[in-house]
Amino acid sequence: MPDPALLDPQTEARVEALLNRMTLEEKIGQLVLENAFAPVDWAAVIAEQKLADETGRPFHLDLSESPTIVEHTRAGRVSAINSADLRINNRLQRVAREESRLGIPLLVGNDVIHGFRTIFPIPLAESCTWNPALLERASLAAASEAATMGINWIFAPMVDVARDPRWGRIAEGAGEDPYLGGLMAQARVRGFQSPNLPGGARISACPKHYVGYGAGEAGRDYNTVDLSERTLRDVHLPPFKAAFDAGAASTMSAFNEIGGVPGTCNAFLLRKVLREEWGWPGVVVSDFNSIGELVQHGVARDLREAARLSILAGVDIDMESGAYGRHLAQLVNDGSVPITVVNDSVRRVLRLKFSLGLFEHATIDEGLAAGQILRAEHRDLALEVARQSMVLLKNDGDVLPLAAQGLHVAVIGPLADDRADLLGTWAITGQSADVETVLEGFRSYLDPDRLSHVRGCAIEGEKPFEVDAAVATARAADVVVLVLGESAAMSGESHSRATLGLPGRQAALLDAVAATGKPLVVVLMCGRPLVVPALIEKADALLVAWHGGIRAGQAVADLVFGGANPSGKLTASWPRVEGQIPIYYAHKSTGRPADGAGTTQWHQPFRSTYLDVPTAPLFAFGEGLSYARFEFSALQVAERRLTDDGVLRVSAVVQNISHRAGVEVAQLYVRDLTGSVTRPVKELKGFHRVELGPGESRTVDFQVPVQSLGFHRLDLTFGVEPGEYRVWIGPDSTQGLEGEFEVVTEA
Ligand code: NOJ
Repeated sequence: MPDPALLDPQTEARVEALLNRMTLEEKIGQLVLENAFAPVDWAAVIAEQKLADETGRPFHLDLSESPTIVEHTRAGRVSAINSADLRINNRLQRVAREESRLGIPLLVGNDVIHGFRTIFPIPLAESCTWNPALLERASLAAASEAATMGINWIFAPMVDVARDPRWGRIAEGAGEDPYLGGLMAQARVRGFQSPNLPGGARISACPKHYVGYGAGEAGRDYNTVDLSERTLRDVHLPPFKAAFDAGAASTMSAFNEIGGVPGTCNAFLLRKVLREEWGWPGVVVSDFNSIGELVQHGVARDLREAARLSILAGVDIDMESGAYGRHLAQLVNDGSVPITVVNDSVRRVLRLKFSLGLFEHATIDEGLAAGQILRAEHRDLALEVARQSMVLLKNDGDVLPLAAQGLHVAVIGPLADDRADLLGTWAITGQSADVETVLEGFRSYLDPDRLSHVRGCAIEGEKPFEVDAAVATARAADVVVLVLGESAAMSGESHSRATLGLPGRQAALLDAVAATGKPLVVVLMCGRPLVVPALIEKADALLVAWHGGIRAGQAVADLVFGGANPSGKLTASWPRVEGQIPIYYAHKSTGRPADGAGTTQWHQPFRSTYLDVPTAPLFAFGEGLSYARFEFSALQVAERRLTDDGVLRVSAVVQNISHRAGVEVAQLYVRDLTGSVTRPVKELKGFHRVELGPGESRTVDFQVPVQSLGFHRLDLTFGVEPGEYRVWIGPDSTQGLEGEFEVVTEA
């Protein structure tokens, strides 16, 4: 359901009254997002950041205001800016309110992707908490900090389903599953759009990138997407719908094409699905210059045509291409674009500005930041999210947790004492000086004489490395903790990788250290699932810490020494080799399934398999260990026959059969055995995080509306089909107790 505040009659009256007073130029001005900053020398900025990292002094991005933005604001030629600088934001809001003819305030957008200054783990990591309530709090903390900088529009959450870890932006989303992704999206929207922001501020979320952006061919960013309408509707659209149902007030159109039609001029997606089918009243903003890029896509001859295609398709605001500002007035005047289309877009933008309360308070009190930025509660929350997001994938012989007493620990590896990379991608307002390193975290558990450290090698590059020092340090210790992985710059926008192994000399470092025979714990920091079978073989324990934000170092130490118990579960599959990609648990059966079920041909090879590697991933969706052990029993399906308006009720008992308290994420999967179209072999339909003391057991109850088992059928209508279903409750997507039920047309 749309946010009712957006359709409030009083607001509608204000929108109409204002619209009636606007000139065509002023209307078009409401559809333009411009950069607030003077052109930046990015090479100098990067050099400055590097220096700050090396010397440990705080880094400040010194961006000054663009002179034209002031003029454009005064003239009513700009509606929105992208800026996190309070002084610029307040000044421009004053110009907009007090010096422009109609006094319309600005939308101030920013990419607050996983925190503002208190940087949380990257969103892929956050999703591994399987804890939407926690993410809602984290998003509220991020929004509370952002609001103090005059930001009223957050370009997040990224809700693109991603099934290809080569794609650098897999880091920014919630992984491969539409159901889990939808719940995470809703939590973030509720957090960002919370009515409890400081100083009565309001923020609009912007789920992005509408749509299919995660399915680019070969994992390359911005690349061609060719999805069937059924897959779009069953897999890629649901997280957007979920975000809109939670009240998200805007969305961003995607860079990519789908089946020949770029997202930014895709009337089917932007008008038919979004407006006609869903009745969604929010604002659509293009992605950065994505209107201009219709020329490179080859669907528009020039910027003018790009403007026409985009506005007609339903893109309300042009982010930074200049197409609307330069060409829309003429397009309206010569009849190429009906004024009614422009009016509707302007209405949507004004509605948003009214509903955010910007006409009442556009500027932000400069004193507000002090009470919010990096406040203790936010830092505590960042620690909690980091702990819950890390995933224990191997723990042979219960090498973890380490005893803090009596052991000498060698901490080796390029990320062991690193700050900047722990921030991860898209942390532009974060500062590396705020980050706690793993080494610092370890110091809170170990006496200095029990802890030794050597970097070993750089993250990237083939320079000779400190192999002798690393080996000697490992030999002198009782246990080695190797902290390896990717730099922050190896994932994120336009940072895709074709090979997903350890970069640089890290594999050689691993080999040398492993050869010492010391117990080996690997902490892996990364922005995506990696392809590291040799590492997994050699390590006794593997903790995936991702890029874990400012509290990552402490969180790693807490998990390694048992101050906290791992509970994270993967939300994207870890392939064995890159050739398995795209890889995801909710795949189809095919007519010749990999497990051979139902195949009549006698030869083994005539199945949907590889000759050289298994088809299953190394680690599947939902997997993750704890120091506790859990057992599932007593699966019960309450009713075996259900009608499509019923509720599937399934329960099981989860018992902690160990001596440690821990959290298990009980997961419910369903399979529709026969449909009018083929169905995934499993689909997640529910989960519960269950906290259990030693020996404790609990019944987990799932109530799944039968309607939520629906899909787009042969005729592309949505609905549930009668027939037999399987259901599983278990610890991950590969195992569980199995039951069955039937959906029938009449009870
Ligand atoms: C391009 C990115 O694709 C998008 O996610 C981001 O919000 C915009 N740039 C604005 O920075």
